[in-house]
Amino acid sequence: MAELFDSYRSNYRDVVQSSIDFSGLPHSFFMRAKADLLRELIGERLGQDKPAMLDVGCGVGSFHPLLRGIVGRLSGIDVSAASIAQAHADNRDVDYRAFDGRRFPFDDAGFDLVTAICVLHHVPPEEWAQFMQEMRRVTRPGGLVCIIEHNPLNPLTRLAVARCEFDRDAVLLGAGKARKLMMAGGLLEIGARHFLLLPWETKPARRIERGLSNLPLGAQYAAFGTA
Ligand SMILES: C[S@@+](CC[C@H](N)C(=O)[O-])C[C@H]1O[C@@H](n2cnc3c(N)ncnc32)[C@H](O)[C@@H]1O
Repeated sequence: MAELFDSYRSNYRDVVQSSIDFSGLPHSFFMRAKADLLRELIGERLGQDKPAMLDVGCGVGSFHPLLRGIVGRLSGIDVSAASIAQAHADNRDVDYRAFDGRRFPFDDAGFDLVTAICVLHHVPPEEWAQFMQEMRRVTRPGGLVCIIEHNPLNPLTRLAVARCEFDRDAVLLGAGKARKLMMAGGLLEIGARHFLLLPWETKPARRIERGLSNLPLGAQYAAFGTA
């Protein structure tokens, strides 16, 4: 897996964009929707300003500029050393580390918020439980663990995955499976929210999406739970 993403160090964004070109939307639209969702969850579930965040499987760090003003201390880890080098070159203020994909290189309970965004479908399913336990281990009691994943029930998501060259071995998991993994990992107050349903980012569009977020309609979902 490390080698696969090492080879996308310089063109990761272009490869993602070409897989979603059919939607007529830029990659940045999808990233802004994720940042808005995280901001919402931080307000609702952490009730704290600028949480310390760890982003597991952060890749080249293209999401991180959008987190400025939303989170405080930010760390990113990935199995792809080349992606981590690129992330570091682009975001000097973030603490980046490459690791072996097993034990996260941090002590217990060091973060308020731990995310893995479009990562789990690249992790072999037999490692999902251990991955979730690691996410929980490095989150402080009362902190939030959040994964964002492709919704396998959305046909346009399936099309985008089929068109993405680095998703050939992806094993998609729905929100139900993600919630079960979180439950088995000992997380509490588990929830899931589908998003990226409408091609607009106006306030009314976001309100409609929020109202429908319990239904598995949107292109992606966030599953989250308290450590
Ligand atoms: C599709 S990319 C997503 C990158 C980033 N999270 C984003 O949303 O732009 C998936 C990333 O997961 C990383 N990855 C795969 N298996 C991993 C593991 N076991 N632990 C940490 N990262 C992993 C890959 O190296 C790759 O950078």
